[in-house]
Amino acid sequence: MTRDALLLSLLRAAGDDSVSGEVLAARLGISRAAVWAHIRELRSLGYDIAASPHLGYCLLSAPDLLHADDLLSRLGESQVIGREIQVFRETTSTSDVVEKLARDGVAEGAVVFAESQTRGRGRLGRRWLSPPGAGLWFSVLLRPTCRPAEMTRLTIAAAVAVARAVRQQTGLEPEVKWPNDLLLRGRKFAGILTELSGEQDRVRHAVLGIGVDVNLTATNLPADLRRQTTSLRLELGRPVLRAELAVALLRELDVVYGRLSAGQFEQVADEWESACTTLGREIEVAVGDRRLKGRAEALDQDGSLLLRTRYGRIERVTGGDVLLAAGT
Ligand code: BTN
Repeated sequence: MTRDALLLSLLRAAGDDSVSGEVLAARLGISRAAVWAHIRELRSLGYDIAASPHLGYCLLSAPDLLHADDLLSRLGESQVIGREIQVFRETTSTSDVVEKLARDGVAEGAVVFAESQTRGRGRLGRRWLSPPGAGLWFSVLLRPTCRPAEMTRLTIAAAVAVARAVRQQTGLEPEVKWPNDLLLRGRKFAGILTELSGEQDRVRHAVLGIGVDVNLTATNLPADLRRQTTSLRLELGRPVLRAELAVALLRELDVVYGRLSAGQFEQVADEWESACTTLGREIEVAVGDRRLKGRAEALDQDGSLLLRTRYGRIERVTGGDVLLAAGT
């Protein structure tokens, strides 16, 4: 843990009480003057830290910005996800940054956030709107021991983690649309893009990219997106603290990834199915130029969607865009 991360976690652990400069200096292994320099730096970032010559320091509030040390300090111990966290003010795409980390041999679990992305991407080559400070745009490096055919499982597990974290932090009940869209009142507020590197039968690494529209307002959304898109803020009528949601999300990702690694996809799939609005409905799936119509029956072992066509045949769909038929 870095010094800022340790400092913030000591202040948080004290709650409304103050911690003396002497105690902080001893725990950080630095002088009291150096503690003061760290406090001043955190204050300049927007942390409201009261300082009293007799009592010491007390954290009054934290700003709504993503700060790697703060995220690390709030996250505490995790199995895999968030062992290393980086935050960029701006980057092309956090998935580009993580892809580079993967090639440099960085261990799995590294997470990269950006306050804004200039070339955020979604599935099927679409762009992903990532305005500054309005959402959670981040990617996670994973090195799973599964076959490329099973990779939809990762997307499904990530969707479960996003739904759980949003439920905990806001009380909203997200629905999941196969395989990677998260919706509120039928409008999308989050998406997942899983990109793989590997051979035919072996995954070398995966980059899990997650975008959550947290505090986007109507003015952030171009006219063509307004009808199908929403944000947590638009749904709640108030802004949501991104750092708290980010930490909840990383914790939940750690839990579901642990399940997948332990061979317990079934449990994750059950939870996904209960939040899924695709199953049991008549749908149309666009796979490239093909259109498949039928009833979404279930998830397969590898996370593919099983579609019963009107001829009674079961088709396994491993990718594509689901269009829910009207009135179903
Ligand atoms: C989709 O629904 O089409 C997937 C959207 C994924 C967006 C995230 S934002 C963080 C990461 N970086 C990107 O460029 N894309 C993903």
